[in-house]
Amino acid sequence: MRRISLIIVGLLAILFILIQFIPSKLPSASIENEDDLILSSGMDKEVAGILKYSCYDCHSNETKYPWYSYVAPVRWLIVKDINEGRKELNFSEWNKMEKREQIKMLGEIAEEVEEGLMPLPVYTFIHWDARLNEEEREKLSQWTVKKTEEIFGD
Ligand code: HEC
Repeated sequence: MRRISLIIVGLLAILFILIQFIPSKLPSASIENEDDLILSSGMDKEVAGILKYSCYDCHSNETKYPWYSYVAPVRWLIVKDINEGRKELNFSEWNKMEKREQIKMLGEIAEEVEEGLMPLPVYTFIHWDARLNEEEREKLSQWTVKKTEEIFGD
């Protein structure tokens, strides 16, 4: 019995090492993004802080990678979430969106946040401080309304 467990543990360890060599590249990160929403719009600092803290890891090019993000199989999950997240909504490319798209996206942001769907639970499970409280959800939601009016007024 003892021997079998040792063999299983050994095999798992080998498997763990082998999967590290399966290619899956973390999406590249950059800090200076001229089309970034926060950089270019002089928005409310508090709302900017909430977005940075709770959304920017997946919805911008400014992703911060902790050490475990390099370790498979966690890496695969992170690569997938960031690629999908950036594809849906990338705050670093905000100004490249048409006004019509921006307005639609603001509505979706409010919806996702109000329903508690974002940030993704798998993320807040580890980054518990990225969770939004009632007040922060309210602030974000109010900001989407204000920002929408601002875009209409332009
Ligand atoms: C762990 C990564 C992660 C974090 C953090 C995160 N998101 Fe997402 N988000 C995703 C992924 C992946 C999708 C696409 C799949 C889905 O909808 O579940 C998505 C989808 C969305 C969509 C839908 C876009 C559309 O076109 O329908 C919105 C809006 C959104 N996120 C807003 C936010 C906001 C606002 C925050 C911060 C409060 C946030 N997300 C935090 C990963 C993330």
